[in-house]
Amino acid sequence: MRRNMLILLAVIAISLNSCASDIVLPQPQKTGGMPLMEALSKRKSTREFDAEKRLNNQQLADLLWAACGFNREDKLTIPTALNKQEVSIYVIVPEGAYLYDAKSNVLNVVNTKDIRELAGKQEFAQKALLNIAIVSDKEKMPNDLYAGTSAGAVMQNIYLWCAANEVGTVTRGSFDEDALAEALGLNENQRIILVQTVGY
Ligand SMILES: Cc1cc2nc3c(=O)[nH]c(=O)nc-3n(C[C@H](O)[C@H](O)[C@H](O)COP(=O)(O)O)c2cc1C
Repeated sequence: MRRNMLILLAVIAISLNSCASDIVLPQPQKTGGMPLMEALSKRKSTREFDAEKRLNNQQLADLLWAACGFNREDKLTIPTALNKQEVSIYVIVPEGAYLYDAKSNVLNVVNTKDIRELAGKQEFAQKALLNIAIVSDKEKMPNDLYAGTSAGAVMQNIYLWCAANEVGTVTRGSFDEDALAEALGLNENQRIILVQTVGY
């Protein structure tokens, strides 16, 4: 009896611990902002990032929604072939890594270690306070060209949000794909297409 009680308490402690690490984001701000033509004029890559200044949770919610959030009941800010929605977004920060759940606007923890070294081969990326991995699922979208097209749409949405909010960014194809996939807990059908550094 006592042993069962101890096991139950341990299970509760473990589940409370994992729940505590998820982040409920504020509702994204979907109106206003810089006019599109101005944001397009300012879109560019940057490769120097502040080691301390980071986006707050409101900015993160806005950025992720712009990147690949729902703007209708079951449709995204990006187009996907046959509406397959094969893209997932992973957020890599010094505290760990999270999977963005666009429906519930929550960051679900997938790793509680600092895995930034795996997020890029360039030094600025390994030290950045925010990297976003754009991941495609082959099971949902077997066509690599279409998968790359969707990832590119996410990439450009991030670029435009950053340009409009005077935040720096660069998308990257250089990262340790196998090690990062393992650290993010990806399955064999999931492929990291790009990792994008974001910050000041
Ligand atoms: C698919 C793709 C992969 C890229 N990979 C890298 C990369 O690994 N490292 C990097 O510093 N920039 C990378 N870039 C950014 C390009 O170098 C950059 O977009 C290009 O030099 C043009 O500069 P701009 O974005 O300021 O117009 C990549 C861009 C794309 C579209």
